[in-house]
Amino acid sequence: MTPPPRLALLALLLWCLCALPAPARSQSGATPSPASNEGFNCSANTTYPCQAYALYRAGFGGVPLEYAAIGDLFAASRFMVAHANNLSISAVPAAGQPLLVPLQCGCPSRSPNAYAPMQYQINAGDTFWIVSTTKLQNLTQYQAVERVNPTLVPTNLDIGQIVTFPIFCQCPTAADNATALVTYVMQPGDTYASIATAFAVDAQSLVSLNGPEQGTRNLSSPEILVPLRRQVPEWLPPIVRLNNVSTTPASPPPSTTPAPTVVTNNRDGVVTGLAIGLGVVGGLWLLQMLLLGCLWRRLKARGRRAEAVAVASGDGGEGGRFTKAASGGGGGGRFLVSDISEWLDKYKVFKVEELEGGTGGFDDEHLIQGSVYKAYIDGEVFAVKKMKWDACEELKILQKVNHSNLVKLEGFCINSDTGDCYLVYEYVENGSLDLWLMDRDRARRLDWRARLHIALDLAHGLQYIHEHTWPRVVHKDIKSSNVLLDDHMRAKIANFGLAKTGHNAVTTHIVGTQGYIAPEYLADGLVTTKMDVFAYGVVLLELVSGREAVSDDSGEPLWADADERLFRGREERLEARVAAWMDPALAEQTCPPGSVASVVSVAKACLHRDPAKRPSMVDVAYTLSKADESFGDYSGESVSVASSGGIAAR
Ligand SMILES: *[C@@H]1O[C@H](CO)[C@@H](O)[C@H](O)[C@H]1NC(C)=O
Ligand SMILES: *[C@@H]1O[C@H](CO)[C@@H](O)[C@H](O)[C@H]1NC(C)=O
Ligand SMILES: *[C@@H]1O[C@H](CO)[C@@H](O)[C@H](O)[C@H]1NC(C)=O
Ligand SMILES: *[C@@H]1O[C@H](CO)[C@@H](O)[C@H](O)[C@H]1NC(C)=O
Ligand SMILES: *[C@@H]1O[C@H](CO)[C@@H](O)[C@H](O)[C@H]1NC(C)=O
Ligand SMILES: *[C@@H]1O[C@H](CO)[C@@H](O)[C@H](O)[C@H]1NC(C)=O
Ligand SMILES: *[C@@H]1O[C@H](CO)[C@@H](O)[C@H](O)[C@H]1NC(C)=O
Repeated sequence: MTPPPRLALLALLLWCLCALPAPARSQSGATPSPASNEGFNCSANTTYPCQAYALYRAGFGGVPLEYAAIGDLFAASRFMVAHANNLSISAVPAAGQPLLVPLQCGCPSRSPNAYAPMQYQINAGDTFWIVSTTKLQNLTQYQAVERVNPTLVPTNLDIGQIVTFPIFCQCPTAADNATALVTYVMQPGDTYASIATAFAVDAQSLVSLNGPEQGTRNLSSPEILVPLRRQVPEWLPPIVRLNNVSTTPASPPPSTTPAPTVVTNNRDGVVTGLAIGLGVVGGLWLLQMLLLGCLWRRLKARGRRAEAVAVASGDGGEGGRFTKAASGGGGGGRFLVSDISEWLDKYKVFKVEELEGGTGGFDDEHLIQGSVYKAYIDGEVFAVKKMKWDACEELKILQKVNHSNLVKLEGFCINSDTGDCYLVYEYVENGSLDLWLMDRDRARRLDWRARLHIALDLAHGLQYIHEHTWPRVVHKDIKSSNVLLDDHMRAKIANFGLAKTGHNAVTTHIVGTQGYIAPEYLADGLVTTKMDVFAYGVVLLELVSGREAVSDDSGEPLWADADERLFRGREERLEARVAAWMDPALAEQTCPPGSVASVVSVAKACLHRDPAKRPSMVDVAYTLSKADESFGDYSGESVSVASSGGIAAR
């Protein structure tokens, strides 16, 4: 074949690029600077995003005294809040108790300030100022909220509207000698000395982070940064370790009436915690890499690479109303440049001839499913998906995820003559889960433990894309046929063809698979991670029942049947109902009814009609791993299941 016309290829890449969010521009900045009322300036000498913390005092501003309610404000699960403070999930925080709340701190493109974007749903009477000064305890200021939500009129907010509140935060530079920085709000009477004691640091480090000490009386921005010298929760600063309100140096902040306001806030806001350990790099887009790679080879000149990044990054509107604020960019220009070669090496660029040769010219014999073919190339087996350029989205998403429970992208190929694009994945030996469940012989070989592990694998994969990617990814098409099983029967999530980066987008183009579609998506087109949680609940029901998501005969969704026959009625009788409902192939085996019932309870919580009441995948993974550990004597004392009422009637 003649070499593809390079210009056309470049044009194609450029075209595609326009649909991609821009990476964070390289920030020029001075030393980590004191907060203004718009937050801490982005710093050029550190890497975003990073793990950060906020010091939050429980029980003020009408936020109920429970980890879940606090987590809701900061897009952390109650497990993560409790864990960060070395507290038991079942403990109730004391009023005024200082807590470290984990944040994912980023420096979104075009933002001069670092922040952790939190999605908050407006209640009656809320203004930017009121929410900032009460529930969020001055961890942000209304001026910053206005800047982050330029299209909203602060004096005219609708109830239910989603607003991004930028929680002030900062990432440490090497000079700070800190594992993470805590955003601390100065209280009346606080001095650097008292704060230094409370965090077991020297007062001088507060000066170098925040500038000279000012009185608290007329401080325009009371937020300061405090370094953590060691990893939490292995080590905790005294202010948290003592966990006793009477031992805090600061007097408690003025309390507003703890009215029983229901915090209907969306639990999963934006990426939280833990991401650092996983080495997630945000804002790295393969196509930009490629384009850059092309330019790079041509320009060679080292010093001009950064410019190439700047040129390549167009405006990256994602479309959705809330998406831009929610997705937040992240990543840093320097990172982009230094890792080009690594990213180019990561993917193999296949030739069209190789793929055609490997699949017998895309012969039906090689067809696995849909437009996915099995290919033998150089003695290796791959799965090749053929599509048009709208695959861009999938490529864009896959290149930034890397998790053993997600199908891995090995390479790709672009046929610039036809405009076809081929994604080349690892070949997953045992095919899709639905085929296993539908085939009665194979279903018998899937014992309960195997099914529980599949459920856990999926939960981990989803947790990863929901919590640890930046911006977060919503898969949008979780179903048993998109779950592949490897030779050890471990599950991998496939087919990111419909996946979206960004969160809380609203779409009018409803896609998905019947029987798995969450009601709020069907009704309002609201794209959140909770739609994946719903679909996951349906897959759990399939694992338990061995039945399809939609009945062949009646067309009735499985979740509706479960709602009718399983979820209603007394909790104590659940095991009996489960025994009658579950897959006969399971019933033949010795299969602990308690363990199955606990998975059904998780499914029930996932299928809650109100997306805000569904657990996050963090909670689900935690609960299921407990169910796996105890495997039978699972007590039901759980993160997510206990709090959820049944799913609403159809
Ligand atoms: C950033 O790092 C560079 C090189 O380490 C150093 O020269 C510069 O002073 C630093 N800037 C700030 C503001 O700390
Ligand atoms: C932070 O950035 C703003 C705008 O870029 C600048 O005016 C201000 O001086 C910076 N603050 C510090 C302390 O560097
Ligand atoms: C936040 O700041 C405002 C004004 O500076 C103050 O009135 C309010 O009490 C503060 N809130 C908290 C929780 O500290
Ligand atoms: C960094 O912090 C650790 C732990 O507090 C301390 O032992 C070490 O001396 C510090 N290093 C510097 C360069 O300040
Ligand atoms: C508070 O403001 C007054 C006047 O506005 C000023 O004289 C005083 O120095 C300020 N106090 C502090 C601690 O900055
Ligand atoms: C965490 O809690 C356990 C048990 O309550 C305790 O033994 C341990 O010392 C605590 N760790 C820290 C760092 O406070
Ligand atoms: C915790 O506070 C109570 C009273 O609020 C006090 O009696 C107790 O000694 C405190 N415990 C610690 C460890 O400081």
